[in-house]
Parts: sequence; structure tokens; C-alpha cells
Amino acid sequence: MRVLVVGGGGREHALCWAISASPICDKLFCAPGNPGIAEAAECVAISADDIDGIVAFARQNKIDFVVVGPEAPLVAGLVDRLSTAGIKAFGPNAAAACIEGSKGFMKDLLARNNIPTAWYGRFKDVSTAKKFVRDKGAPIVVKADGLAAGKGVVLCKTVAEAEAAIDSMMTAKEFGAAGDEVVLEEFLLGEEVSYFALVDGTSILPFGSAQDHKAVGDGDTGPNTGGMGAYSPAPIVDAAMDTRIIREIIEPTVRGMAAAGAPFKGVLFAGLMIGPVGPKVLEFNARFGDPECQALIMRLKSDLLPALLAVADGQLANFDLRWKDEAAIVVVMAAKGYPGAYAKGSVIEGLDAAAAIPGSKVFHAGTKSAIKDGKLAVTANGGRVLGIAGAAKTVSAAQKIAYAAVDVIRWPDGFCRRDIGWRAIARERQSLKSSG
Ligand code: AMP
Ligand code: GLY
Repeated sequence: MRVLVVGGGGREHALCWAISASPICDKLFCAPGNPGIAEAAECVAISADDIDGIVAFARQNKIDFVVVGPEAPLVAGLVDRLSTAGIKAFGPNAAAACIEGSKGFMKDLLARNNIPTAWYGRFKDVSTAKKFVRDKGAPIVVKADGLAAGKGVVLCKTVAEAEAAIDSMMTAKEFGAAGDEVVLEEFLLGEEVSYFALVDGTSILPFGSAQDHKAVGDGDTGPNTGGMGAYSPAPIVDAAMDTRIIREIIEPTVRGMAAAGAPFKGVLFAGLMIGPVGPKVLEFNARFGDPECQALIMRLKSDLLPALLAVADGQLANFDLRWKDEAAIVVVMAAKGYPGAYAKGSVIEGLDAAAAIPGSKVFHAGTKSAIKDGKLAVTANGGRVLGIAGAAKTVSAAQKIAYAAVDVIRWPDGFCRRDIGWRAIARERQSLKSSG
């Protein structure tokens, strides 16, 4: 098979790493890829958002199967265009990607199907939105309806903050057209988890749970980022919670999407809040999480590619996956200044030594190859630059491996959190104490 992966971050590095190991993959391309991905795939200089360019490349290069990583091309209809061209793809079509592309669509779907989530209202008009805020009071959450690169959510402690967030989205157009409509919703309390399931339109195959760390600083302090690290599985999702999530959330969502005329095919990523009465939906994504995907792939024992094909072919019902009896953790190394302004171009050394540590894996996200002092070097080219993973029997042991690998990387312009996995590690300590 000739396979093309679309995207160029840490998630796509993990996907390429797994797909390149498949005996049914003869040739793997990645658009645009990155220097880490180049070890597993042939990178082609086409942006993930260049729908015409990707379709043309896939036709010219006789691609049998396209795996789409990020949400933007899914929402823009890449899978629809590929299907018209007769090319099989992993990922939802534009209608089904609305589950991520429109928060209003997603909330209405949940409401119609009695799926637990925060109460909400949808607004296209500033004054009615503000009236809703004043009626409901604070705390309240303000969300831009459309895609805002993970930034369109404001958790407001006061009515004044919520009114200001409405103004900046709807009047000042901070997120462009994504803020033409806003969703206002209940502020939920609890513990957040990311839950993944492969879905072929009707059948569901659970793909595991993870927790990520969105805040930039240790102890979950400071501004939110795209994710500073993750681990999998999430200990709060025990067998009983897993069953509840599937019964109360994933199954009715999949049935609801089919009933809405938009059957979902791809990976359904549910962002959940586990509160006092059980799991509630915060959001859905139509793709793998980044960096959650890297942690999930570290644990996967089976060949990934046949599973992705089974999704595209509608053959998931008789499919199963095997997982390692291990926990995995990924620590993101970011450029100093991120999530604010940061510099590009600094040289990163020690990546081979990091990769040589048993149980570790180095995933590239925002890196670039460049000639520095006459030598080929890996340089920083983004905010989140590397994801350093470790896998072992416990989260504590996996964390040790990941940080041992981080510590041999020489990159003075980078930083990472030192406490990725703290919640799971505290639970492991607690259960050791109570058992011993
Ligand atoms: P989202 O982009 O929808 O994932 O939201 C970003 C983050 O905001 C989530 O990961 C949560 O931490 C938080 N969040 C979103 N919606 C709510 C809510 N209704 N109540 C509390 N926190 C929320
Ligand atoms: N790590 C969260 C996301 O990928 O949306």
C-alpha cells in the first residue's frame, strides 16, 4: 500500500512511526512532515491546509490511503474531495467534522440525544448573549462557535469578564468568523480526561484514555497551551468508568451523528469532565489529540494501519486491538516564551542520545533541518518543538525514562514542565501506601 499522512506535528510523527512499521505499508509519504518524520516517511512540501495540493499529489502518486492528522483540513472537506477522486481516507467528511468545527452543532447534537454535558445557549447577537450571561450569572464559559486553534474558550469568573469575552469574539472578531456565533455554557467542575474511540460510522472500538496538561507551568499554573505533556491510560478511567463513557457518551453520539445524516468515521476524541455525577462532555474533536496520540501509540501493540483501514472500510465490528500492559508519558519541550512570543532557529543537540535510552522515543513537532556552522542540524521551528516519550509498567517509571531522555537533550532555548503525570503518580503512591 502507498500511504500519505497529512500533517507535520508530533501527532503525525507518532502516526508515521506506527504506520511505517506495518508490513502492509510499502511506501509512506507525509505532507508536510518534519525532520523526525523524515526518518519514517518521505516528506513532501505541501501544507496540511492545501486541499488542492494534497488531492493532486495523492492522484499523481497513486496513493491508496490518506490518513489526516489535524482538524482544519477535515473541516475544510479534504476527505470529501479525496473520496470524489476515488481515494480512500481515514477521517470524517466535512459534515461529520462539524462535531469539532461547530460547537453549536455539537451542543445541539448532545441535547437532542440526552448526552450529559454543560447547559448552554447559542447566540449570534451581542445583546442577547450578554442578557443570557446576566440571567445565568458567573462563573460561565464563553466559546467561539468555530475553530480557533484551541484558543476560543474563555473561563469567566465574573459577569464582566464574560461580557468582555463576548465583545472580543463577536465585535472585535478576535477569532475572525469563528466568533460570529458564540456558545455560552455552564462552568463544570471535576477532573478532565481525553477519551478516544475509532468509529466506522456505526461500530465503535475504544482506543484508550489519556490526560494532558494544558497549563504552561508546573502545578498546572500559567496560561493555557496546546498541551505541555500527556500520559495514558488515565487512571480515573477504570473499567466501570470506561463502560459508562461508552454507554452514556460515545454510543449515543455515534447513533446521533448517523441520525443527523452525518455518520462519523475516524477517531472520535471526547474531552470529558468527570464530576460528582459522572462523565460530561466538554468538547468533541474529530481527530487524535496532540500530544495524547504520542502516548497512545507508545502503548499500542497491534499494527495501526489495518485498524485505520477498517474504519474507512466500515469493517470495525469484527476488529480488535492489543495494547501493552504499560503506561506511557510524553513530555513536551517548547521554545522559551511559548505560548507567547518565541524565537525560532536555535540548534537542538543530543537527540540521538535521548532516543538511545531504553523505553524512550523522541517525537518531533516544530523542528526543521538547517545548515549551522557548515553542519546539518535540527533547529527549533515552532512553539511546541519536541515530545519526549517514555513507556514502562507504571506512570512513575515512565516519567523517569522520559525525563532521563529530556535531560540529555542540549537545547538552551527550550523548556519543559517537570511534573507531567503528577496526578497519576500521586494516585500510584497512594495505592502503594494503602496496599503496603
Ligand atoms: P476546549 O477548547 O473546548 O477543549 O476548552 C479548553 C479547556 O477549557 C478545556 O480543556 C477545559 O479545561 C476548559 N473548559 C471548557 N469548557 C468548560 C466548561 N464548560 N467548564 C469548565 N471548564 C471548561
Ligand atoms: N491535546 C488536546 C488537543 O489535541 O486538542
